[in-house]
Amino acid sequence: RMRVLSGMQPSAESLHLGNYLGALVNWVREQDEYDAFFFIPDMHAITVPQDPAELRERTRKTAAQYIAGGIDPEKSTLFVQSHVPEHAQLAWVMMCLTGFGEASRMTQFKDKSAKQGADNAGVGLFTYPMLMAADILLYQPKGVPVGDDQRQHVELARDLAQRFNSRFGETFVVPEAFIQKGGARIYDLQDPTSKMSKSAASPNGLINILDDPKVIAKRIKSAVTDDDTVVAHDRAKKPGVTNLLEILSAVTNTPVDTLVASYEGKMYGHLKVDVAESVVAAVTPIRERTEQLLADPAELDRLLARGAEKAREVSQPVLEAVYERVGFLPPF
Ligand code: TYM
Repeated sequence: RMRVLSGMQPSAESLHLGNYLGALVNWVREQDEYDAFFFIPDMHAITVPQDPAELRERTRKTAAQYIAGGIDPEKSTLFVQSHVPEHAQLAWVMMCLTGFGEASRMTQFKDKSAKQGADNAGVGLFTYPMLMAADILLYQPKGVPVGDDQRQHVELARDLAQRFNSRFGETFVVPEAFIQKGGARIYDLQDPTSKMSKSAASPNGLINILDDPKVIAKRIKSAVTDDDTVVAHDRAKKPGVTNLLEILSAVTNTPVDTLVASYEGKMYGHLKVDVAESVVAAVTPIRERTEQLLADPAELDRLLARGAEKAREVSQPVLEAVYERVGFLPPF
């Protein structure tokens, strides 16, 4: 079976709707079709300052949300990045293959370092995409299901795989970003030209899937739209309404055109009520199941330990081949 791999950062409060619709929903579908590896990039999480106890909690909470959202640890290999030392080991090799200019062009680095002031940004933020390339290439996946914002990072992983292969001999599968149509980019409700992100200026633009349904509904109902009243899909002229339509389309699995037709002659208020109801209906069972799973952290840790064992069965031989090809002397 074809292999896929993906991950999402352990976030403080909850996954947001972009993570859910841009990634998790697809992972759940893909685990039936593919040999799927899903992991929690906790090493990526320390590229910005973290509280240690909180990071541990975030990691468990993210694992719980994967499972609550439908990832079955029996079908998929589910693990934590820092449990598999090969990620850090291969990342070094990837850094040595990457050009300084090439890394400087990564838009996520440019955005994040601009926010912190370029001189204050950690070097980890700069080398983040090389760690991500290692995450991917260690498992030889054909597809990397991600939202549109991660496309450039997957491109870098492709380039590095090709570069390594041509310099040292065929070693890596060259991966491809799998980006689905609906939900590939969910925008901020208050600033619908920026992607929904936990680092947004105002929390009101964000929908956390573990939030109280009242908060979710309130944020959707106060989403920015425009002065016009016609419900139409037009990214340039009506970014707010378009975002709501795309959210509704992804959550209810209904084509946008069908939705637009059904709102003919109706006002934005109707659309907002429907979006709020559908989103709450989709995330409520996930929140409840996450709470149940978090009540037994030992069981979660056991599942993750088992996942790391399965992951290492793949990552160890790949790293060994890499070490041999770059010319490291075997240790025994
Ligand atoms: P992260 O944690 O920022 O996001 C996790 C997933 O959610 C998607 N996503 C969105 N999709 C639609 N609309 C949005 N507003 C939105 N915001 C986020 C992302 O595209 C992603 O699929 N660097 C990665 C994590 C990572 C990774 C990897 C992913 C580390 N190593 C290896 C794949 C393979 C990240 O920070 O994603």
